[in-house]
Amino acid sequence: MTAEFVRLEVADGVGTIRLDRAKAMNAISIQVQDELALAAAEATDRSDVRAVVVWGGEKVFAAGNDVKEMADMSYTDMVDRVQKLQDAVNAVARIPKPVVAAVNGYALGGGCELALAADVRFAADNAVLGQPEVLLGIIPGAGGTQRLPRLVGPSKAKDLLYTGRFVKAEEALAIGLVDRVVPAAEVYAEAVAWASRFATAAPYALRAIKETVDRGLEVDIETGLQVERHSFAAIFATGDSRTGMQSFIENGPGKATFEGR
Ligand code: HXC
Repeated sequence: MTAEFVRLEVADGVGTIRLDRAKAMNAISIQVQDELALAAAEATDRSDVRAVVVWGGEKVFAAGNDVKEMADMSYTDMVDRVQKLQDAVNAVARIPKPVVAAVNGYALGGGCELALAADVRFAADNAVLGQPEVLLGIIPGAGGTQRLPRLVGPSKAKDLLYTGRFVKAEEALAIGLVDRVVPAAEVYAEAVAWASRFATAAPYALRAIKETVDRGLEVDIETGLQVERHSFAAIFATGDSRTGMQSFIENGPGKATFEGR
């Protein structure tokens, strides 16, 4: 099946997961959610994708879950729906490569939650983020109650979740919801430039760093340090460690070029 609303575009080692449902502000329908999961799986599997940008185009990142599709759903409908939505967003969160969200315009509800699944977020100066679910009488279901407090702390998260208020780029930067604010016309290029740094970087080391940081955030520090020890030792079974350290010995720091998977 050819994807209609979400596609993976690959150039020079960078895969862009592009949301493209302009007429509904990239609202995440069941079809969008399923295509997003497929695109994330493809970005995970393809060895020519070394880093990923998630982008909704120049006007909007995503205005959230498709409210029109969701409005008449029952509890039993939603049990299945919310699981699949979380699976799709988790598929993005678990891409074992650096992932940056490039946010133009609105990133609301499920759209904000999708951005939260990236490793870092670059926002256009016209970006507006928020979790307005409470204004619809519902709550976030794609990780917002979990990833947002982990990122900005519980009080700032609860302020946003309780009020549903919209946050402009500068405030988002100040509270740590985004990591960089750039002119709207440059946000995608900045995100691609960030991702391109990893096109010849050490893929197994990057994967181990991502898994170890993310796993460590879920567990106590002793367990996290144990995970780190195992990851550290395991990296010595990959070509990355030999390539990197041998290059340092022969050529000095920062000169190594690493093979892909
Ligand atoms: C369905 C949406 C939509 C959405 C916008 N549209 N957001 N359709 N679901 N989330 C549609 C509008 O109905 C309209 O369609 C078109 O996109 C343009 O939107 P407008 O409202 O006319 O544009 P504007 O006045 O610029 O306002 C933009 C906006 C506003 C601020 C983004 O649309 C808005 O507040 N949208 C809803 C945001 C939201 O509440 N998101 C959270 C959803 S719940 P027509 O056909 O009229 O042109 C969620 C829960 C996740 O994400 C967990 C679930 C399991």
